[in-house]
Amino acid sequence: MSKKILKHVMPMAVLFLAAVCLPVFPADDTTPPAIRSGELWPDDAGVHINAHGGGILKYGDTFYWYGEHKADHTSSALVGVTCYSSKDLLHWHNSGIALSVTDEPGHDIERGCILERPKVIYNNVTKKFCMWFHLELKGMGYSAARYGVAVADRPEGPFKFLYSQRADAGTWPVEFGEKELSVVDTLNAENFKQEWTPAWLKAVDEGLVLKRDFPTGQMSRDMTLFVDDDGRAYHIFSSEENLTLHIAELTADYLHHTGRYTRVAPAGHNEAPAIFKHDGTYWMITSGCTGWEPNEARLFSSSSIWGPWEQHPNPCRGPLAEKTFGGQSTFILKAEDTIIFMADIWRPRHPSDARYIWLPIEFEDGMPVIRWRDEWSPSL
Ligand code: DGJ
Repeated sequence: MSKKILKHVMPMAVLFLAAVCLPVFPADDTTPPAIRSGELWPDDAGVHINAHGGGILKYGDTFYWYGEHKADHTSSALVGVTCYSSKDLLHWHNSGIALSVTDEPGHDIERGCILERPKVIYNNVTKKFCMWFHLELKGMGYSAARYGVAVADRPEGPFKFLYSQRADAGTWPVEFGEKELSVVDTLNAENFKQEWTPAWLKAVDEGLVLKRDFPTGQMSRDMTLFVDDDGRAYHIFSSEENLTLHIAELTADYLHHTGRYTRVAPAGHNEAPAIFKHDGTYWMITSGCTGWEPNEARLFSSSSIWGPWEQHPNPCRGPLAEKTFGGQSTFILKAEDTIIFMADIWRPRHPSDARYIWLPIEFEDGMPVIRWRDEWSPSL
């Protein structure tokens, strides 16, 4: 090769080698400096965050994001609940497995069970971190419909599994007095074999499924937790074949139900509850029930956690607002000046590739509104 040609080729070769051999970004710089809903969200090691159906706890100056670890080809739990930590809600560090499934045959959280929508709250009195989640026993599809409870001394865990069960066996909701109970008495499942008729929906509203499950406990599926300003905590979950939401008060240690609970939107068919309180009003966002497919978000409000709850129009605005932007609610985080709506874009054929929607909730004319934004950053 002539010297003249070498003079041109050498710098190009050096550039080519540099491009091929050097990492394009150091790991830290791969994390986007803004929230971009629907896109891959790399942690500080450059790996897409794996914390689905999740919720966030702020403890000290750190946010902890707990969620379902999703495998590549199954929605069953092969790992457990993951925990990520962050100081700014943008840059996340994988803090490990907070709650591991076990290999003990027959154990409630045996590997291969379905473990969804974990949420963690901190108990100021016992100084314990309390995790609640939706649990389906291995090999039983979605028929067990239980909640599970686990506890830890540190936010990252390890969480110790305590128990799983159905809810509030042998107890009627607080609003059921003599009149309601006399109606329940008359409800006979034999008379309502045809589902989704007006008569069947009325009977569900009056307690048809509630009565069926009264002796053994109410079903408990999609769920969230909420700690009120007075320190009382509540477990909010889809019950009665996902037809009716229940809000159950927790004991002072946040590890059990007290037995006091109320029903929200009976026969309304709601899943994916997420809740926050703003200027004394409780706001709840839910979804309809269409499996992993997105549907239109629903909005409810009440001046008391015990209701009555009033339904309002869909709070989402922008492309695909009628399908919650392709996602399903999981949690609402109040962080300083920002209220963040968190949702999941499920990918049931490749569960670990599911994406996150995080958007600010703003108030317009006294009502919460969620506008699509390609990217944004919370002000902390
Ligand atoms: C919708 C629920 O919200 C999800 O958590 C999950 O249980 C799917 N249904 C399963 O189809």
